[in-house]
Amino acid sequence: MIDEGRQGEALIVEGNPTGSKKLYLESYGCQMNFSDSEVVAAIMNENGYSTTRNVEEADIVLINTCSIRDNAEARVRHRLGDFKKKKAENPHLVVGILGCMAERLKKSLLEEEKLVDIVAGPDAYRDLPNLVEEVGTGQKAVNVLLSRDETYADISPVRLDQGGITAFVTIMRGCDNMCSFCVVPFTRGRERSRDPHTIVNECRDLFKKGYREVTLLGQNVDSYRWNMTSKGEIKDETQPTTNFAQLMEMVALVSPDLRVRFSTSHPKDMTDDVLEIMAKYENICEYIHLPVQSGNTEVLYRMNRGYSREWYLERIDAIKRIIPDCAISTDVISGFCGETEEEHQDTLSLMDKVKYDFAYMFKYSERPKTLAERRFKDDVPDETKGRRLTEIINKQTQHSLDSNRAQLGKIQKVLVEGPSRKSEEHFCGRNTRNSMVVFPKGDVQKGEYVLVKITDCTSATLLGEVVERCQPNF
Ligand code: 5AD
Ligand code: SF4
Repeated sequence: MIDEGRQGEALIVEGNPTGSKKLYLESYGCQMNFSDSEVVAAIMNENGYSTTRNVEEADIVLINTCSIRDNAEARVRHRLGDFKKKKAENPHLVVGILGCMAERLKKSLLEEEKLVDIVAGPDAYRDLPNLVEEVGTGQKAVNVLLSRDETYADISPVRLDQGGITAFVTIMRGCDNMCSFCVVPFTRGRERSRDPHTIVNECRDLFKKGYREVTLLGQNVDSYRWNMTSKGEIKDETQPTTNFAQLMEMVALVSPDLRVRFSTSHPKDMTDDVLEIMAKYENICEYIHLPVQSGNTEVLYRMNRGYSREWYLERIDAIKRIIPDCAISTDVISGFCGETEEEHQDTLSLMDKVKYDFAYMFKYSERPKTLAERRFKDDVPDETKGRRLTEIINKQTQHSLDSNRAQLGKIQKVLVEGPSRKSEEHFCGRNTRNSMVVFPKGDVQKGEYVLVKITDCTSATLLGEVVERCQPNF
């Protein structure tokens, strides 16, 4: 899930520890990338760097990049143009590219973008201080080694200054799925899960610091496993095993006032035990992001998604059966290789059946080295992709509006996150279904839970009034 509002955000560390050198760290892409940037900031802090939002005073600029679609890379290349000017003014400025673009393009980035000094892939962040040192000796530095076991489990990420209410916690890295359109297996390597105790400790620590919501992050959280092989064999008989449902329960038990969310689920792997744990704990939010990509079985087969339209719809039925009010969102791609008009219609009809509360929708963008690039022709004309995307977006806008209208008059528990973007007089926060709710501030504090009566809505936001402040449960 890519949050448009956060693209290019510069990370600045809470309380900004003093370091003699200044780091400007800008991030693009998915939540995992923003979470990785917090690990990077922690590593750089340890090595005497404090963060700055002012690129003018930076000694080093690091850009954490995304490769998911061509336009994600184009955006970063465009941004590099700005840093070129900065480097011309200050030749000592060190510029590094991190993340998926670094991993995909490796050394060739140094040739293509002459101003770049460091190229570091997603598993190479511990090496950053050495890479910076190498640059100090007048060389360019590259580390794009992918790892089978790096999870940065022992690194306590420094948090973004969002006000300290919601945090992302990475529970696994990499992806073994090989969806034919996707570059992630190449940029983030093999799937590996993080020790559950380090995850729970991090969540406990966040709660103590005043955080009230954690989002457990992984490319495919349903295949989280600890002390088990991918075939389900136990690795160490003397130790317990942990699957995703069990991990979520462990985190939910940290405190009833710590909300738990997660992303992303995979339709082929999402099991009922996860849904049952969600139904059991009030603090596990009633919201599932379940990317469908296409509503047509043949297209899903070409995408190598590992499920059919019917299988997907059965999983939706299971969600609605076990958690009747659960909000569901999805990702959809328009114009994948060979997609016919009928196949596109199947996506629209699936959307009508599921009635998603929210969706991220994209035009197919061919990525180098992926299975789709090697096997199929990117043969749907751009115009057709665009027209189909518009049809998908129009449908979703209507469904989102219907979904929000259905909330009118209801009283919902909202975690107060802080001032609303548009008005100082209003606070915003999310309900369990992940909808943003905006309401007049009154004397409410951020980090509190309040009951809000929903009085109005747009397709994107709910508006309401606080009817009660909830007493803490701890
Ligand atoms: N083209 C368009 N969309 C893509 N996604 C992933 N790869 C591509 C691509 N090559 C979308 C998928 C995925 C989301 C993170 O990005 O919908 O779920
Ligand atoms: Fe995240 Fe994928 Fe983009 Fe990498 S390519 S930043 S994993 S969305």
